[in-house]
Amino acid sequence: MSRFIKHVGIIMDGNGRWAQLRGLPRYEGHKRGVEKVKEIIRSAIRLNIDVLTFYAFSIENWQRPKKEVEIIMDLLQNHLRKETQTFISQGVRFKMIGNRDMIPKNILNVIEETESATSECKELIAQFAISYGGRDEIIRAVKKIIINNTVPEKVDEDFFSSMLDTAGIPEPDLIIRTSGEQRISNFLVWQSAYSEFYFSQTLWPDFTEEEFTEAILDFQKRQRRFGKVSEFTRP
Ligand code: IPE
Ligand code: IPE
Ligand code: MG
Repeated sequence: MSRFIKHVGIIMDGNGRWAQLRGLPRYEGHKRGVEKVKEIIRSAIRLNIDVLTFYAFSIENWQRPKKEVEIIMDLLQNHLRKETQTFISQGVRFKMIGNRDMIPKNILNVIEETESATSECKELIAQFAISYGGRDEIIRAVKKIIINNTVPEKVDEDFFSSMLDTAGIPEPDLIIRTSGEQRISNFLVWQSAYSEFYFSQTLWPDFTEEEFTEAILDFQKRQRRFGKVSEFTRP
């Protein structure tokens, strides 16, 4: 399978609705959501996928009630602390993409510790988009380019990509969004130019390995043309 699909992005949406449907507080949905991340990582390793990007917390999500933000940050921090050893034993390299300046210092420390502890892992790259906005990532790249006094001739698409948080990572072949919403919500705005999309009605805490595999199989049936015509099309 790895020949066809290298990178899958996942917009993990629907945690709040999952909890509300059960009369539970929203954070219960986030808790369940974290468990699903582990399941999908295991499944991606089995399917020989090289990179998974989980949209965990958008730059816009900072505008949620303070209490919810705190709970999400705590869950994230605990998850990383608890999972570091498992990441290492599974060969999972953890990497964060997003705006580091906006993340509280204690949380950022845990993120960076996990990044360095897993930096040599080679089985799968698990990118977590935290405090992430595609537009923010582009603006930060532009600023880097200006600060470095880059000459215009040097700026092409490959160069620009290398200035993004995802430098060196292949673009997502497939982006899955759960919970029935059909929008990108500022996820991998530059990198998704030619991604395929898979929208699922399932709320993220109910998402399963089976459905993940189904999305991959669905992707493999698609024909990607990248603006060209298919080899087999008659003129
Ligand atoms: C996704 O679930 C997780 C985050 C955005 C952090 P939501 O919290 O957006 O859940 P819904 O969309 O309100 O159901
Ligand atoms: C997108 O979900 C962000 C994450 C899944 C982390 P949101 O729930 O924040 O997106 P909108 O508000 O429905 O677009
Ligand atoms: Mg949502």
